[in-house]
Amino acid sequence: MAGRINDEDVKAVRDAVPIDSVVSEYLQLRNAGGGNLKGLCPFHDEKSPSFHVSPSKGFYHCFGCQEGGDTLDFVMKVDHLSFSESVERLAARAGITLRYEEGGYGRASQQGERTRLVEAHRIAARFYAEQLDGPEAEVGRRFLADRGFDQEAARHFGIGYSPAGWDHLVRYLRGQGFTDKELTLSGLAQEARNGRPIDRFRGRLMWPIRDITGDVVGFGARKLREDDQGPKYLNTPETPLYRKSQVLYGIDLAKREIAKANRAVVVEGYTDVMACHLAGVTTAIATCGTAFGGEHVKILRRVLMDNAQSEVVFTFDGDAAGQKAALRAFEDDQKFAARTWIALTPGGMDPCDLRLAHGDEAVAKVIEDRAPLFDFAIRSIVDRHNIDTAEGRSAALEEGAPVVTQIKDPSIRRGYAVRLAGLLGIVDEEFVVRRVAQLSRWARERGQAPPRTAGRAARAQESPAVQAPFVPRGPDLNLRSPAHRVERELLKLALQRPELVSPAFDAYGTDEFTAPPYAVVRQAVEAGGGAEAGVGDSGYLGRVRDAAPDDTVRSLVTELAVEPLRSARNREVDEAYAGEQLVAVRRAAVNARITELEGAARRLEARQEYEQSAGVRRQIWTLQQYGIALRERGAAAL
Ligand code: CTP
Ligand code: MN
Repeated sequence: MAGRINDEDVKAVRDAVPIDSVVSEYLQLRNAGGGNLKGLCPFHDEKSPSFHVSPSKGFYHCFGCQEGGDTLDFVMKVDHLSFSESVERLAARAGITLRYEEGGYGRASQQGERTRLVEAHRIAARFYAEQLDGPEAEVGRRFLADRGFDQEAARHFGIGYSPAGWDHLVRYLRGQGFTDKELTLSGLAQEARNGRPIDRFRGRLMWPIRDITGDVVGFGARKLREDDQGPKYLNTPETPLYRKSQVLYGIDLAKREIAKANRAVVVEGYTDVMACHLAGVTTAIATCGTAFGGEHVKILRRVLMDNAQSEVVFTFDGDAAGQKAALRAFEDDQKFAARTWIALTPGGMDPCDLRLAHGDEAVAKVIEDRAPLFDFAIRSIVDRHNIDTAEGRSAALEEGAPVVTQIKDPSIRRGYAVRLAGLLGIVDEEFVVRRVAQLSRWARERGQAPPRTAGRAARAQESPAVQAPFVPRGPDLNLRSPAHRVERELLKLALQRPELVSPAFDAYGTDEFTAPPYAVVRQAVEAGGGAEAGVGDSGYLGRVRDAAPDDTVRSLVTELAVEPLRSARNREVDEAYAGEQLVAVRRAAVNARITELEGAARRLEARQEYEQSAGVRRQIWTLQQYGIALRERGAAAL
């Protein structure tokens, strides 16, 4: 059983280490007035600092979560340590030797688990570093040299070498008083088939991974030899010390710089962190064998103080994977996304390659040339389309607008809608802004995100108009119905290119639109002064929107005003195309009327009212002639 630490020693430890110096290992503190400091609480998620520290009183208190206490409470809570482990840790820091009430001075075997595992790692890191100078490690030194790292760099990052034998480290640590159980628990050893521990890392280059306070908690180990059957990198497994979702390689070296520069640079590998730091980008960190996730965000948040100016820059080599990763960031925390920047390295090189090929300045320049995440995402969509053509611009708009829609902050969203318009060369930015606003509204109404890519095919299946809450009159709008599709197309023409459908369009009856929502839009066009009056009149769409009876119809008007016309590839949207749509709608209306009249005629004949039925049949005949003329002469027969 661990001996009780002498009370006077506990007090000495508490007094010796200033609370603000301990707390600021974990979060950035700034002046809160009256000699107090404040920062973002490490114990709960918050956006503005309510975690207060009073150096003179030696206490902290969070006004958000009511968590509070002294230095020891803080260390216990933040690092999940026991009371005696916390005292031991602070004592080591202050250089105080502790007395234990029962059992004399603390022996290694009596210390807390975490302290023991940290100690094992500290010794292992030193052991590996010493091995790097030996003859067996030549291959490791060559690896470092090939990547532009000299001895000094290796020392700065504490790089080492794990000998190729089975149990060099195990035997060494046993000699230092560590039990086999501690060795396997630490992840430094693993059990062989016979149940005895052997070294986990053998014949590899070793990167010590430190937590934010500088304690080594794990290792990243790179393969050096062809006959090594293992993966390129082997990392410490999950242990009580090492949780890969919570470690950031380089954070111990970078934290002060990150706080000072209000910027963190996230790269992909150990060598990239090294290359960046050596190139002067001392804010670089990397995840260790896992994707950057929510736990990592929390760590950075505290260091960055989460103010509006702070930036997190992700570097990607400019391939599709990087772009995908960037787009994925939309699914993360938006507040984080808004401060996220993307830096692309040229030619598929990582920062380490880049530094080798083009030197330190090239690495620094990549970071300087960063772009805001949202901007990057929109630009990469636009770049995928040929925006020299109207088709390409429409397609880029249809794909880009839903992405802009996902930006939750309306003022930022508007800015990016304008940006999208600019990239597409659309002079009427308001048009794009409205399209984005409309998509957002639908997303809200449906309580879900709009389709991520609203290609034309996707929209035909899932047009929001289908789900918009119309009071149903007649059959549901079905875009797969050819009749409804052509009505839609004609309305789009009437709104977008009124000159192509005038004057014929204004003579079309509301009843020629068999889908109720379209009939309402047709009415709105009429109430807005008609399509002919809209030719060359910039106020036209606004008038039609104003004439719409409600928001749902207003949305539909905007949608139809924006949706790309369906004209087939390589076919211009011209008078002939417009004429075909006019004719198709009219023919459908004529046929529907004929069917109706035929029913009426049959009913009259069943009641033997032949005179009246003959009148109806004459009407049918006239309509049939009109139908034939439309079929044969097209728009000329209108
Ligand atoms: N990584 C890993 N496990 C692997 C491969 C990679 O955990 N099997 C992680 C490591 O953190 C590594 C980072 O991904 O640092 C980058 O990997 P990679 O670019 O493949 O390695 P480099 O360090 O760039 O090595 P090299 O220069 O030889 O390509
Ligand atoms: Mn790499």
